[in-house]
Amino acid sequence: MKEIDEFLTIFKYYKANKPKPSSQNVITVEDERHYDKVIRFALKQSDDARTQRLGLKKMEKWHVYTFQSHPGLYLIRNPFTSLGQRYWIRKCLEDYPRKPNRTNIDNEINLEDWWQACYVDGASDQTLIKKLRWTTLGYHHNWDTKVYSEDNQSALPRELAELTDVVALSLGYSTFKPQATIVNYYHMKSTLSAHTDHSEVNLEAPLFSFSFGQSAIFLIGGQDKSVTPTAILLQSGDIMVMSKESRLCYHAVPKILLASSSPWNEEVNHSLGEISASFKYINQPEELYSNMIKNTGDEWNRFKDYVKESRININVRQVLNESQNSLAGVVFNS
Ligand code: OGA
Ligand code: MN
Repeated sequence: MKEIDEFLTIFKYYKANKPKPSSQNVITVEDERHYDKVIRFALKQSDDARTQRLGLKKMEKWHVYTFQSHPGLYLIRNPFTSLGQRYWIRKCLEDYPRKPNRTNIDNEINLEDWWQACYVDGASDQTLIKKLRWTTLGYHHNWDTKVYSEDNQSALPRELAELTDVVALSLGYSTFKPQATIVNYYHMKSTLSAHTDHSEVNLEAPLFSFSFGQSAIFLIGGQDKSVTPTAILLQSGDIMVMSKESRLCYHAVPKILLASSSPWNEEVNHSLGEISASFKYINQPEELYSNMIKNTGDEWNRFKDYVKESRININVRQVLNESQNSLAGVVFNS
């Protein structure tokens, strides 16, 4: 007997515009109506010295949630400062799509630097801006074969590795190694259909997923599509962690929604001292001030315009097993 694809039924329900889907069953973690589905807990760790420089609030201020029906799934509800959100949004647009990283555009046009190519003589090329759907860093995800390989990789940026490390440690994952990243760029009509992430050799390591910009309805079900998925609202700054039982569960994004607030645009009136402490990570120290000033002034406007109608998702994975140093000799099961 053919199994019923409950996942697809719910996916279509949230994707549709007519009738407009109800938000009644979409879990917003802080909403007390969902208190029976969500558990909030405090972190036991004392703060990590790196939080401030990575644009994160102190850990004592983080709100971490788990879900009754999805063991191993965590949501850290926007632990970023406003400037922190700007820093990561900017990285995803200005730095990460640059060569030698890969993007979906590579198959069509050979561009060294997509963001720069989007602005020629001060005018914006909206078609090119809209074209970017993904960037891969570290071991490049091969979208056709779904197989990672040793000779197909670029460096994982240090700040991204550090960010993931801080988040992993906060949840007690002390051996997590970030080795592959997909940055997804969504527009208001984009969707991501049901899938599991199983290309990694190591399927025990958790997967970290960061959201910035507009909001998304995220669906997570079970290990087959007959399980009715849960709908969760992901908002700018949220970090979703898929570990243990939920690591191999079907998930999808059927809908991008306009955010009810813009935490990346909140009033930025930090002192220069605070800014410099927060952003030691921006490449070289001499770039520090200029970078942050840029993110508080006009320079920020292009990025602000982009996220006004887009969502960015950074998905970080460990590829190798604890005992492996490389993929040499690894035979993949399909
Ligand atoms: C992925 C993914 C989810 C998201 O890239 O594999 O599931 O929230 N992304 O965009
Ligand atoms: Mn996924």
